[in-house]
Amino acid sequence: MRSFSLLAGFHYTECLNSLQEFAIVFSITGHFARWMGGRTLAAEWTIREVLNWTRGYFKSAGISQPRLEAEILLAHALDVDRLHLYLTPDKPLTRDERDRYRTVVKKRQNGTPLQHLTGEVSFYGLRFRAGKDALIPRPETEELLDHALRFTPRDREIRCLDLGTGSGVIAVCLARYLPRAHVTAVDISSAAINLAGVNASMNGVEDRIEFLESDWFDRASGDYDLIVSNPPYVARDELAALSSEVRDHEPREALDGGVRGLEEIDRILGGVCAHLAGDGHVLIEIGASQGEDVVQRMLEVGLQEPKILVDLSGKDRFAVAGAP
Ligand SMILES: C[S@@+](CC[C@H](N)C(=O)[O-])C[C@H]1O[C@@H](n2cnc3c(N)ncnc32)[C@H](O)[C@@H]1O
Repeated sequence: MRSFSLLAGFHYTECLNSLQEFAIVFSITGHFARWMGGRTLAAEWTIREVLNWTRGYFKSAGISQPRLEAEILLAHALDVDRLHLYLTPDKPLTRDERDRYRTVVKKRQNGTPLQHLTGEVSFYGLRFRAGKDALIPRPETEELLDHALRFTPRDREIRCLDLGTGSGVIAVCLARYLPRAHVTAVDISSAAINLAGVNASMNGVEDRIEFLESDWFDRASGDYDLIVSNPPYVARDELAALSSEVRDHEPREALDGGVRGLEEIDRILGGVCAHLAGDGHVLIEIGASQGEDVVQRMLEVGLQEPKILVDLSGKDRFAVAGAP
């Protein structure tokens, strides 16, 4: 993008995106007159104007839900609920508020995940802390949890094992939605285990989750009625093709599934039969092209009736099987 200096500290650029950028820079530096999309206005930025502007800015940056993200970030910068933005659309932003907002808008436009900026994420109706120490949970994993809840008896005490707990979302939801479940949550990353512990406390289930820093089953003991996992399953040569938002901001050990993406799934399946209760189930999130291989491996280790389940977009996404 070509640009040249128009005034000290300001840049005039030749495309609409940059005109918009000019507008925010101009405004944020404290000048209340601004030029945006060919209009000249002499007023302070209000919540409504800032949101409208950011929507266009994010849209041209390729962000898929630009208005929603603008609202979430503005609410975060102002430390209010999103509803507050709708109730006070004509409120002008103070200089401090504009500065805080500009900082997060810039980071978002540069690819920092929204959840890292707000520090939180909602998952299956609960709120969790999010950060660079663990994968941001994905919507498919809410479907994994749906299946897990379906395969799990509620009429008795049960033991569940969440392998690769990350931020702890699966373990915490199992404990919250299955009041008679005792959950063990395992991760190889101590930072992830710490975050998962914070999330268990935030959701009031820390007493029913045991956290283990462990290489899969190494430190787990006993049998489980449910073993659930969303392991790393991206093939190594596909890592480079991930969006920079994922590749540069998510922990590599949460993504890298080895040469074909199946290495960690294979290791889990290698240990699963020794830890499944008689009528227990194992449920694993997998890559869309991995179903056949995973079913084959499940049969090899002696699991019963392996099945592949699709996600909401119709892709193979989950493998489930019963104990031998
Ligand atoms: C795809 S993330 C899933 C995180 C979380 N369960 C979720 O669904 O959002 C995979 C997790 O497995 C963990 N992991 C990778 N290799 C592991 C291993 N050998 N033993 C235990 N955990 C491992 C990673 O640290 C990461 O937190």
